[in-house]
Amino acid sequence: MKFNKKLIMLASAATLAFSAVSLPTYADDKPYTVTDGKYLDADTYKGFKLFRNWCARCHAKYGMGLDDGGLGADLLKSVKILTKEEFFATVENGKSGQIGSMPAWKANAKVMKDRELIYNYLLARSDGAIGNEKPKKAK
Ligand code: HEC
Repeated sequence: MKFNKKLIMLASAATLAFSAVSLPTYADDKPYTVTDGKYLDADTYKGFKLFRNWCARCHAKYGMGLDDGGLGADLLKSVKILTKEEFFATVENGKSGQIGSMPAWKANAKVMKDRELIYNYLLARSDGAIGNEKPKKAK
């Protein structure tokens, strides 16, 4: 009896210890790296450049769309509301809604190939890691 109790306690201690180490570390989960508030890692900077080339004319210079004088949705809000899959599906197939119409991007190989980097840039903006200003590429 005594032995069993000890065993159970040991087992639960082990379970606790195990769940403690297997907890995700959210800080390291960010798909972008920002240093000094304006330096982006090379991949995310590429995402910014793609955004600037293909999306900024409707979604405003740094993603805020209507909220910053643009024609399209505020994508800083969209990345918080939509799942990543929904975001990508909209980019691929376009969208006509209350705000207006966006063309489908599936025929644009550059956008399709690196849409994840565009998403990561918008995530960095949405998280407030990088401001409503021109980012720089980290050296
Ligand atoms: C010609 C203008 C235009 C361009 C260029 C454009 N968009 Fe859009 N986009 C829109 C409009 C307008 C909407 C809003 C549609 C609606 O809901 O009425 C929109 C909506 C979206 C949405 C859905 C937002 C939501 O909350 O549902 C995503 C995601 C999106 N755009 C991503 C992009 C990306 C990424 C690019 C660049 C590759 C891009 N857009 C380029 C006009 C544009």
